[in-house]
Amino acid sequence: MSVKKVVKYGTPSLREKSKEVHKISKKVQILVDDLYDTLYATNGVGLAAPQIGENLRVFVIDVGTDPKTMNPITFINPKIIKKEGAINSYEGCLSFPDAYTNVRRYKYVKVKALDIKGRPFILEAGEGSLLARCIQHEFDHLDGILFIDHCRNRFDADKVLAEKGLNGVDSKYLLDEPELEEEIQKNPQSEEK
Ligand code: NI
Repeated sequence: MSVKKVVKYGTPSLREKSKEVHKISKKVQILVDDLYDTLYATNGVGLAAPQIGENLRVFVIDVGTDPKTMNPITFINPKIIKKEGAINSYEGCLSFPDAYTNVRRYKYVKVKALDIKGRPFILEAGEGSLLARCIQHEFDHLDGILFIDHCRNRFDADKVLAEKGLNGVDSKYLLDEPELEEEIQKNPQSEEK
């Protein structure tokens, strides 16, 4: 359909809780097409509806690295029904151009969602894979949570954000996550980077 403008950190809609989809209407189908067009145009791996200004519970992921391995997955009204383990994940976000920092994530997630036809599916992603981390990142966007809220070191994160001309980490949203942090420190192999 069309490539949309990705809203940047500081835009209020990124902090809003998105609404459930009640019907896979034409509007929702267009939204999903726009998410994919924008995702591929920006070389991202995941994009959530609030990032193109629609506060609906929809995100798309494609962790395929080239046209041969393309694997688009659409998530509508997703729920994370199981999460385990902990991993250090070095992440960025299309709403934070060129800003990357270390964040805490679960190693494994099981997610339940609807596809574009409204059919329910269950997907498991583990071993701290890019898919597992991406699902958590995009899911957060639907609740107004941003990757920097999970940062392991706010001073490092602030430095990177300042270099990119972005506002620093907001203490109001900063997540403590002592259990995840403890597990990451106990298992050096959980250091993804
Ligand atoms: Ni993001």
